[in-house]
Amino acid sequence: MIKKGIFITFEGSEGCGKSTQSRLLYGYLKRKGHSVIYLREPGGTKISEKIRKVLLDPDNKSMSAIAETFLYMAARAQVVSEVIRPALEKGRIVICDRFLDSTLAYQGYGLGIDIRSIKLMGDFVTGNIKPDLTIFLDLPVKKGLKVCGRVKDRIEKRPLDYHMRVRRGYLRLAAFQPRRIKVIKLDKNKSVTQDKIRKLISGWIQKFKH
Ligand code: TMP
Repeated sequence: MIKKGIFITFEGSEGCGKSTQSRLLYGYLKRKGHSVIYLREPGGTKISEKIRKVLLDPDNKSMSAIAETFLYMAARAQVVSEVIRPALEKGRIVICDRFLDSTLAYQGYGLGIDIRSIKLMGDFVTGNIKPDLTIFLDLPVKKGLKVCGRVKDRIEKRPLDYHMRVRRGYLRLAAFQPRRIKVIKLDKNKSVTQDKIRKLISGWIQKFKH
């Protein structure tokens, strides 16, 4: 594959405002005249959205950690082959709300699935497509869980210490790969956070294109 586009992912723990911030960035880049698409994971295709329903359904209490990991990977394999790879080949900017780092944080650091195995599986299902830039939106776990509302999905329902492990996992991933993963502390005011993201992205896209 000749990758000509730019792949930007957003990551974060529950209630971090990732979807709002990534959508705002999408609108901004579009208005600037970039050819950009927006996706969420798990999701982004009909099949992946169906897998998402299975993954988040609170009735699926007995799902094993390995089955869960494979289902996230299956949803990802589909969206990569159907949407992400073709878009990058055409030179578009792809913004994805979550990607492989979510599996490392939630199933790896959160559930204890072997990190190396997740990386290997990840390379296999994505055909080695990696984000060029990842924005990790950070906020304390308790604050985030409050935002989630009363009807919680299967993952949000997990105990506080699980979500703490997820956040620590993300911070470890960011510490290992500081060039790719940028940690942005969430501000109460969403436009302050968005401004920080835009500043980072604008400078970065200029550099990337040269
Ligand atoms: P969302 O709430 O950001 O849309 O993501 C759906 C949920 O799925 C969220 O609780 C995080 C979780 N998740 C994983 O556990 N592993 C993954 O690989 C991905 C992509 C999401």
